[in-house]
Amino acid sequence: MKRAILTLTAFALLASAAQARTWDAIKQSGTIKIATEGAFPPFNVLEGKKLTGFEVDLAEALAKELGLKVEWTTQPFDNLLIGLNQDRYDFVIASHGITPQRAKAVDFSNPHYCTGGAIVAKPGGPMTAADLAGKSVAVQVGTTYLENVRKVPGVGDVKTFPKDTDAQAALMAGRVDAWVGDKFTGIDLVKAQKGKVKQGALLFKESIAMAVKKGNSSLLKELNSALDKVMNNGTYAKISNQTFGQDIRCR
Ligand code: ARG
Repeated sequence: MKRAILTLTAFALLASAAQARTWDAIKQSGTIKIATEGAFPPFNVLEGKKLTGFEVDLAEALAKELGLKVEWTTQPFDNLLIGLNQDRYDFVIASHGITPQRAKAVDFSNPHYCTGGAIVAKPGGPMTAADLAGKSVAVQVGTTYLENVRKVPGVGDVKTFPKDTDAQAALMAGRVDAWVGDKFTGIDLVKAQKGKVKQGALLFKESIAMAVKKGNSSLLKELNSALDKVMNNGTYAKISNQTFGQDIRCR
């Protein structure tokens, strides 16, 4: 009997430790814990100890709107949503496209930008989905790029890399015929490589959002209302223009 009670107590403790922080708890602590990858320029980049990028600036603006300090965590992309469900942070901002499969595991905010996955290759290389038949393609693991490239009829070898920048490097080194990644990242890559690569067709479109633990509706509501505010008071446009020279919100 005694043992049964002890076990129950231990279980209750574990269960409460595994509870996502509600808005009230976050507000009371004064600090919001945010996770990103830090290897996805120009959205989230870790340079030395400094996090920069569009999503970092945007999340800081949201926290300011909510009256909170920020505690950042960086994790490999593939671990981010798992850590969220283990309550290691309050939300994730790392360019996750809203997909039905992810929406089963986490709850998404309203989208913070709209984009798509585009092909990039060397001149003479594949530029359209049809061109990808029989070609090798590099993509980051765990992404919508992987999911969508796999669907291309007749596509050749699809090579996955832990980091998107490694997938780009594989293209530059000539180890694959194409890289599929974010269209804005692709624009930057083409610029940085000064014509050594070209951007081809958009393979698919996606809406990008922040993720909270499934069921954390109080936090989701606050995040959405802060996003609404920065989208309407000029802050979002300013940050987006600084990074991209355009406003990338969904329209
Ligand atoms: N938008 C793509 C997706 O939803 C790629 C996101 C990659 N993000 C990152 N931080 N590496 O899967």
